[in-house]
Amino acid sequence: MTTPANAIDHLQVIPSGGALGAEITGLDLGHALQQDVVDAVYQTLLDHCVVVFRNQHISEEDQVRFTNYFGRAVEHVREQVERPIKEVFIISNIQENGQVIGALGNAEITFHSDLSYMQKPGTLSLLYAVELPTTGGDTHWCNCAAAYEALDDEFKRRLQDLRAVHRHYIEEQNPPEIVDHPVVRTHPENGRKSLYVGPHLTKYIVGGDEAQSRALLEQLFEHMLQPHFIWTHNWQVGDLVVWDNRSTMHRRDPFPADQLRLMKRTQIFNDEIPY
Ligand code: OGA
Ligand code: MN
Repeated sequence: MTTPANAIDHLQVIPSGGALGAEITGLDLGHALQQDVVDAVYQTLLDHCVVVFRNQHISEEDQVRFTNYFGRAVEHVREQVERPIKEVFIISNIQENGQVIGALGNAEITFHSDLSYMQKPGTLSLLYAVELPTTGGDTHWCNCAAAYEALDDEFKRRLQDLRAVHRHYIEEQNPPEIVDHPVVRTHPENGRKSLYVGPHLTKYIVGGDEAQSRALLEQLFEHMLQPHFIWTHNWQVGDLVVWDNRSTMHRRDPFPADQLRLMKRTQIFNDEIPY
């Protein structure tokens, strides 16, 4: 007898062998998942921080259903053109009628943890690749938990009570209040500590003078961005990648302006305030 589609014994976890990341095979995300499979996927995500599913042929409804297994899919805080499935946010440089249909264009996006400029940044992000450039547009993830763990005890103590202000460079994107978060955050699910600062959205350390703040942030970024903490995903159409913003940050390479890239993004909001 054959086991039904998406049965737990079809699921295989293949670690990337790098700083983080694992591929899960044996699942068709176009169909519903049983709770035991959802639990296994979530555990893989906690263990590896980023999970890749390849060759998925899914609708926006499928992506939202899958997203909702791990919390509550929400509309992105950024405004976008009216769309039928509001939880799906378009990341693209494609233009229709002279207007871009999504966010983030074709330029490089430096390392960040999604929505860290919000008091409650949300937890997971999911990106589904629909159309890709022939060159560029790779996404890189940094294992911020491994980066924290590699610090010596004295440095860890120095960071212990520090907080940093996060702010989006597009001013209107920000909430009215100035948002700060701990420099070292604790993962609510596994207690693992991570560095929670990044060059794209972290502005300064609260309390110190500006030069000290800049020097410390630069020291941390240099440490975190060492190649052994980073893993790169080279996208193929049909990839769905899920990442945990509580223990990682990511960066995207630029790609040629005359090539098209279309990604569908969902994200989870869990009311968590980083601590
Ligand atoms: C994002 C993001 C990177 C990419 O959606 O938050 O950073 O590769 N995307 O498009
Ligand atoms: Mn991002």
